Amino acid sequence: MSTLLVVNSSPFHETSVSRHLSEEFIQNWKQANPNGRVITRDLTTSDLKTVDAAWVGASNTAKDARTAEQKQVLEVSDTLLGELRAADEYVFGVPMHNFGVPSVLKLWIDQIARVGETFSYGEGGPKGLLQGKKATFLIASGGAYDAGTVMASYNHVEPYLRSVFGFVGVTDQKFLSAGGASALMSGQADRATFLKPHVEAIRSQFVAA
Ligand SMILES: Cc1cc2nc3c(=O)[nH]c(=O)nc-3n(C[C@H](O)[C@H](O)[C@H](O)COP(=O)(O)O)c2cc1C
Repeated sequence: MSTLLVVNSSPFHETSVSRHLSEEFIQNWKQANPNGRVITRDLTTSDLKTVDAAWVGASNTAKDARTAEQKQVLEVSDTLLGELRAADEYVFGVPMHNFGVPSVLKLWIDQIARVGETFSYGEGGPKGLLQGKKATFLIASGGAYDAGTVMASYNHVEPYLRSVFGFVGVTDQKFLSAGGASALMSGQADRATFLKPHVEAIRSQFVAA
């Protein structure tokens, strides 16, 4: 049985572009995987903490040497890691915030990037430990950051996600970008018309599969 982990990070709901697209992805995935299981992780209601000295200390302590307090410090991280391991496939709804990922997604990444759990260092350098997973990133932004344009260098979302997920071993990655969403806010574009090509791009992923 396949399992999909859905990670959303937009503070908006009805008006969110990334949530609309992740929902479209879920519906298509469910059709393709009628017996599949979906795990949903909404980062805007997960109340994740920043990693602090106690967290880093606990993470860097060998598993069987951790104190009860250290185990407790890592509890949330362990839960998030459990979700990552349980799923074969991930989909992320990602709004661009200030040219990067939303702070709640960064908090989640800090919680799941754990030595000995999602990456290790060996003689050959770093090794990602989340093997055999695939991820789709559905990115919404107010502006457009197409390759070759002046604005492309401002896009720290896709390059960052590529690097950090590659680092933890998730190298099977797909990126779908819905740029230019500011036209919705200014009333220059109609929502259905704006979303259509992106919805079709998602559907086509499943037709091709
Ligand atoms: C706090 C905040 C910061 C934003 N920063 C950027 C930005 O740096 N570049 C950009 O193109 N759009 C930016 N936007 C616009 C969003 O990327 C756009 O509204 C997009 O649709 C967000 O995804 P969502 O609809 O799923 O929330 C920002 C929006 C918010 C709320």
